[in-house]
Amino acid sequence: MKKTYVITGATSGIGKALLKRFVKDNIVFAGYRNEKYVQELEAMGAIPFYIDMAKRETVAQAAAYIKSKTEKIDTLINVAGCVVAGVMEQLPVERIREQFEVNTFSHLDLTQRLKTLLGRVINISSMSSFGIFPFVAPYCASKRAMDILFNAMALESGLEIVSIKPGVIATPLWEKSIESNKSSIEGCQGYENEMKYMVSNASENGKKGLNVEKVVDLIVKVDAMKNPKPSYCVGRDAKVAEFVSRLPFGLQNKLIKFKLSRVMITK
Ligand SMILES: NC(=O)c1ccc[n+]([C@@H]2O[C@H](COP(=O)([O-])OP(=O)(O)OC[C@H]3O[C@@H](n4cnc5c(N)ncnc54)[C@H](OP(=O)(O)O)[C@@H]3O)[C@@H](O)[C@H]2O)c1
Repeated sequence: MKKTYVITGATSGIGKALLKRFVKDNIVFAGYRNEKYVQELEAMGAIPFYIDMAKRETVAQAAAYIKSKTEKIDTLINVAGCVVAGVMEQLPVERIREQFEVNTFSHLDLTQRLKTLLGRVINISSMSSFGIFPFVAPYCASKRAMDILFNAMALESGLEIVSIKPGVIATPLWEKSIESNKSSIEGCQGYENEMKYMVSNASENGKKGLNVEKVVDLIVKVDAMKNPKPSYCVGRDAKVAEFVSRLPFGLQNKLIKFKLSRVMITK
């Protein structure tokens, strides 16, 4: 029987790959923020809906549109996301607010608005939720906050919510993050080596990360499970991050500093 899915961030990377997989046999509402994707989404057989996670009013509009078209959603997959990077002593707080708006608050808002229709929620969190990556702290914090807020929702309401935590996946996210963080990277003072490393690392990750289909395979598997676990890691790096996050805090920091000293010149 056909199931109904809502996928945010369906125009690229993980979301697009998920859409391709699900749209063959199901009804899929596909979120986009740029009109240029509408035709492509329709041609794939999806029902496009406009949502810009950075603009609150569009979340309400998207939820109203979806509710006008369907009475049930088997699975809402919260995928849309971006990366705010930079040095914590210099990054404008406004940029961190934007990070939370896109990666955390808008997904929570959309989920609340669709709650009465929902069977299950799958969130694309990240290994960054384990919180051990300096220079991308806003991204880590936004994903951790997402996990905490949604886990509480699951405990309080009984709604089934699964957090998927991928490690590095080869998607356009990495190149986009270099572009969108250009001003923080170029404007930062005293951390030039660190920023150089971050840019080359991001560029490498976009090419050498795990294939996006590995994440899709896991999500398809989790979606079909009767009783999924609340959290799954994808990739060896994500499992290592989970392990490190369970070590005593002082030891974690020593390991992170050691790793940084191996890859770049630090203070
Ligand atoms: N790639 C990785 O290594 C990795 C690892 C762990 C977790 N993740 C998470 O996986 C999710 C998907 O990322 P991806 O790697 O597939 O990256 P991607 O290829 O850049 O896809 C991100 C998607 O989110 C959309 N998006 C970004 N900002 C948005 C906004 N303000 N409003 C609405 N949509 C917005 C993008 O739209 P446009 O096409 O218009 O840009 C795109 O469809 C993200 O939540 C990311 O944090 C990725």
